[in-house]
Amino acid sequence: SRDDRIARIASAIRVIPDFPKPGIMFQDITTLLLDPKAFKDTIDLFVERYKGKDISVVAGIEARGFIFGPPIALAIGAKFVPMRKPKKLPGEVISEEYSLEYGTDKMEMHVGAVQAGERALIIDDLIATGGTLCAAIRLLERVGVHVVECACVIELADLKGRERLGDRPLFVLVSST
Ligand code: PRP
Repeated sequence: SRDDRIARIASAIRVIPDFPKPGIMFQDITTLLLDPKAFKDTIDLFVERYKGKDISVVAGIEARGFIFGPPIALAIGAKFVPMRKPKKLPGEVISEEYSLEYGTDKMEMHVGAVQAGERALIIDDLIATGGTLCAAIRLLERVGVHVVECACVIELADLKGRERLGDRPLFVLVSST
């Protein structure tokens, strides 16, 4: 059943206390990738949700959105667009700044990777404060792309990142408190 699949996925995610610094409970998806059944169920649950929804773009956020995004894109017949850290993409880019706990970071996307009017799904492994997904939304909307939904494997619900996404729906498999 769906609940059995979700339970297996949740238990395959390893939590490492105090990484990368004291007080952070790091949600480690590398152990999910070691369980082929749980990894496949993760991809299948997203594919079941997005197949037939006329999505032409799967935008994956560096780094772990690059693991989950491409198999979903292939299965639903969409292109995959990487949303990268600064100075990694060789072509012309547009960029968006976003705030971190200390300081700011930037996200970049190739100009010409997407066209105005396309329908996009944004994928990442996890939403915490929501700042990262917001930057990806801004990049796509600036060029006239419709963000149909954001999807993550894990949501840290206490941080209320979902509220920062405004009207764009957020779908998650596992909500952690
Ligand atoms: C993590 C995670 C998300 C982001 C979520 O990435 O994979 O991309 O943080 O945080 P937010 O909702 O508060 O913005 P990280 O910063 O560890 O970068 P990495 O994937 O390149 O290691």
